[in-house]
Amino acid sequence: MRVSLEQAIAELKKGEVVAIPTETVYGLAADATNDDALKKIFTIKQRPADHPLIVHIGDIDQVDYWVTAFPDIAVKLAKAFWPGALTLVLPAKQHVSRVVRGGESTVALRVPNHPVTLALLKQSGLSVAAPSANLFTQLSPTTASHVEAGLGEAIPVLDGGACNIGIESTIVSVAANGQWQLLRPGMISEEDIAKIANIKPANVAAQTTPKAPGQHALHYSPRTSLILFKDKPALIKESELLIQAGLTCAALLIGDGDAPNCAVVRLPNQPDKVAELLYGTLHSLDAMRVDRLLVELPPSAPAWSAILDRLNRAGHR
Ligand code: TXA
Ligand code: MG
Repeated sequence: MRVSLEQAIAELKKGEVVAIPTETVYGLAADATNDDALKKIFTIKQRPADHPLIVHIGDIDQVDYWVTAFPDIAVKLAKAFWPGALTLVLPAKQHVSRVVRGGESTVALRVPNHPVTLALLKQSGLSVAAPSANLFTQLSPTTASHVEAGLGEAIPVLDGGACNIGIESTIVSVAANGQWQLLRPGMISEEDIAKIANIKPANVAAQTTPKAPGQHALHYSPRTSLILFKDKPALIKESELLIQAGLTCAALLIGDGDAPNCAVVRLPNQPDKVAELLYGTLHSLDAMRVDRLLVELPPSAPAWSAILDRLNRAGHR
């Protein structure tokens, strides 16, 4: 059910959930200070309670309300990348809901870069916790229609068009002593973070910060079983075997080159474009209801690391 900005704000203030647009993916939002509202997110998504949520705030000035420490490095990162696709995990104040924190001592914060959701946050004065608006382990939504297809027509959706980054935010934890660590890769790369932080990430073996709970091997998955290939010849060979066996397939290819004899979507050989179109393409390939999706992996270069991460999880069996 599509709702206006005013209706979305009214629903959130009543303690209901609303799907909201962000530049990365659509989120399933609830008032981050209302435990009953937050619990509805977990029920609708069928998400385990120990997976914490990201709190979306309207402005960097609101960080102090949530955290006991906002180390210089985190301030620099927030100033460089907010509003934007960076989530900062920081030590949480006592009053921060345990439902949001999933039992952790930290809280994840981000100022999203989407005009509709920024207007919602500013006009309502709310901060909203929002995981991606999909069922647990399934593909994230990048349009209002994806949300409705995944969660049903009854969910109120604030339509803000297609997400232009297309994959989830980069998550970085920063401890009170300023040590930082990448918890989830995104289109803001670890190199981008290191440049602004001006110090290397903490040695993982020596870490004192928590991992991102919920980073399951199987995640971001279409319903159709998906097979990953390092190159086009291997993908084409598999398609021939499947067709011989009487099975149907569809393929996602990156860049120019030979194609298999089945439905094909070709994305340009550019990381930003592939990120933007990735989930939408997987949603439409999934809707074809073929027996197998065949996906060509991009090169293992740093610019592709977030896309490789999502594809490897989507293909995990
Ligand atoms: O781009 C995004 O980040 C999107 C949009 C809606 O903002 N949100 C999103 O949320 O991807 P979700 O719930 O699907 O993923 C959030 C991730 C989870 O892996 C969770 O474990 C981690 O953030 N996270 C949240 N709070 C955390 C905390 N306090 N410590 C460690 N990880 C945390
Ligand atoms: Mg998610």
